[in-house]
Amino acid sequence: MTALQKNSLQKNPNDLNLVEVACYQRLINASVERVWENVRDWEHLPWLHESSFSYVSLDTQGEWGWRTWASEKHTSHVELCIDTQAQRYVARSYRKQQQVTEIWTSLRAEGAQTHISVTFAVPDIADADKTAVGQLYLDLYSRLWDEDEEMMQARQQQLTPAPAGPDSINLGPLQELLPRLPMEVRIRQHNYQVCAVAGELLVYPARCPHLLGPLSILDDSILDDSILDDSILNSSISDSSPLAKSQLDSSAQGRADKIHAQTLQVRCPWHGYVFDIRSGACLSPANAACRLHRSPPLQTNGASGDVILGVA
Ligand code: FES
Ligand SMILES: [Fe+2]
Repeated sequence: MTALQKNSLQKNPNDLNLVEVACYQRLINASVERVWENVRDWEHLPWLHESSFSYVSLDTQGEWGWRTWASEKHTSHVELCIDTQAQRYVARSYRKQQQVTEIWTSLRAEGAQTHISVTFAVPDIADADKTAVGQLYLDLYSRLWDEDEEMMQARQQQLTPAPAGPDSINLGPLQELLPRLPMEVRIRQHNYQVCAVAGELLVYPARCPHLLGPLSILDDSILDDSILDDSILNSSISDSSPLAKSQLDSSAQGRADKIHAQTLQVRCPWHGYVFDIRSGACLSPANAACRLHRSPPLQTNGASGDVILGVA
């Protein structure tokens, strides 16, 4: 690969026969702050935009922008350069060091929204192909910005201060709780998911410690998904419940042992980070510096048999 382009914030630095094939305009329901955050965030591309990006890995990044490999063999790449002063950025795609696109995006804050204007240029396109190629880019960007807008709005919602929840919640008798699961509850400053998985009642943080994406359990981390059968109805099965073990019948105990022998994992759909629910450790990517914060304990009220989440 060549060094960083010297004139990357100028139009057409490689002096190609660039043809503008389409222009996409849209008012995004997210602040310009969220949009810039999203532009700098190359890491969400293969996860949030899974259907559009099959491979993305970082080559280099800085205040100027980022450059990522777009193929496993590193034969193609994308470079995004930011012009903060002009409130615009350019993304150029290369295949075998040949530039194949040049896409400029301008941003304009409009209150809590952001107007975007995107122009797509491709080298050496015949007049007869301009409309069809342009439409491909319009369709692609419409989908990408739909996905980005949803993520930015969800993140904004998480960043907006919300009233604290109680220190504990009475979730009621186990038999009545199970059909209502999974459910999200708020304890103090955080939201948690309560769910029953493979014969176990689980609680884990509902939001990712990376950038506040939603967390959900990975199906392939579950050995046995035959949940909510009679044995679980008769047994509260959580490590954190002091009554759980004594309530287990032998078959449920065996199943729980099997589950406990492996990690139960949650994955965030925004950047693909995977966490071990029990230890809170981030399992992937290896260099991630975040972990799940501790979940409140699940306990059974001795007198009523109600399931209590948190410390009263
Ligand atoms: S918000 Fe980035 S992985 Fe969850
Ligand atoms: Fe995106």
